[in-house]
Amino acid sequence: MNASNRIFLPLESDEAVAWQRFLNQIKLASKTLLLCESNVIQHAQFIQQSLFKDTKMIELVSQGEGFKSFKNLELILGILYQERLDRNSLLIVVGGGAFSDLCGLAASLYHRGMAWIVVPTSLLSMVDASIGGKTAINLGETKNLVGAFHEPVNLILYPESLKTLPQIEFNSGFGEMLKTVLLISAREFSLLESINPNQVSKDSPEILKLIDVCMKFKQKIVKADPEETKNLRYMLNLGHTIGHALESEFFYQVPHGICVAYGVWLEACLASKLHGIAPLLVAKIARVINTINYKLPFKPDAISVLNRCLGDKKNYRDTVGFVFLRDAGELRDGFHTVTRYGLDELKTPMQETFFECFA
Ligand SMILES: NC(=O)c1ccc[n+]([C@@H]2O[C@H](COP(=O)([O-])OP(=O)(O)OC[C@H]3O[C@@H](n4cnc5c(N)ncnc54)[C@H](O)[C@@H]3O)[C@@H](O)[C@H]2O)c1
Repeated sequence: MNASNRIFLPLESDEAVAWQRFLNQIKLASKTLLLCESNVIQHAQFIQQSLFKDTKMIELVSQGEGFKSFKNLELILGILYQERLDRNSLLIVVGGGAFSDLCGLAASLYHRGMAWIVVPTSLLSMVDASIGGKTAINLGETKNLVGAFHEPVNLILYPESLKTLPQIEFNSGFGEMLKTVLLISAREFSLLESINPNQVSKDSPEILKLIDVCMKFKQKIVKADPEETKNLRYMLNLGHTIGHALESEFFYQVPHGICVAYGVWLEACLASKLHGIAPLLVAKIARVINTINYKLPFKPDAISVLNRCLGDKKNYRDTVGFVFLRDAGELRDGFHTVTRYGLDELKTPMQETFFECFA
């Protein structure tokens, strides 16, 4: 990606081919409609004027995670119907991960599936939520319980939109990037380590570089295992076993990517307790957590977090699955293996980990 351009189609290596494909998608669509959330209206207007001049734009009030409800799903489906979209129409969705998760689900259901294009505006949605076709809403307290795989036909990146992203949301995306670079290689991890997210310009070349590598890495993994049937996609859950448990321990008041960053750190520490691996890596990750500089509402309790790990929908038969690193870019158990541990094996090492990390 070149910082002097403002809009990218990042998922194809040949830019000219990517733009041609995009133009064809527009040409073939019977109708187009752009939906955006209110916090990003100025960016949506820029996207509309640059790429979708004749397209109607509808703005919905930003609600963050609260948007992912049945009520709002019905609202969006109603809009698609009122606007007389058909199954050959194209929906353009501009917003953060919560907004695109729900609009993508609506696109998967309307006429049993219509094409959609995502324009992610938060760092987390650029590097994670908008890639891989998972769409969902929440059911009661349970996150992402109702959803579908429905890949957008294209992804448009407008990095300048990050300039208005609140710092805490930027840091949350940075936490999710921490996970991804650790899966990629030591080189990408060093680049991330060299950046202070609280000081860097949000659309600087270093951040653009990290966005690019993280997007492409996730795209490569989901292409090889689109519906998580080969265990390969599972590696993207690095840091998420403890990360998800922390999210619920903190009543969803701490952003997802911050919990993931803590999860990556705690899981690395746990791996060093269980298997004696990567002690240096633990210290390096701790420094990244320090620069993110997020103050948790309270010290989490190891056993309570462990019990929440057991309740995670990805676990079964009273075991907890982890993706452990041997080093940056190197998984302990190989690409297709998830190692499961029983409660008794985990209790003491978890307590030691929490004692050390939250001393
Ligand atoms: N589908 C997937 O594979 C996947 C992966 C990871 C996360 N997710 C989901 O993504 C959601 C989190 O996404 P998120 O981190 O983008 O949070 P979010 O969508 O809740 O957005 C956070 C806040 O930032 C605002 N915002 C977004 N872009 C902005 C911008 N450029 N300027 C100003 N404000 C802006 C939003 O309006 C919101 O208030 C969660 O619901 C999570 O479950 C999905």
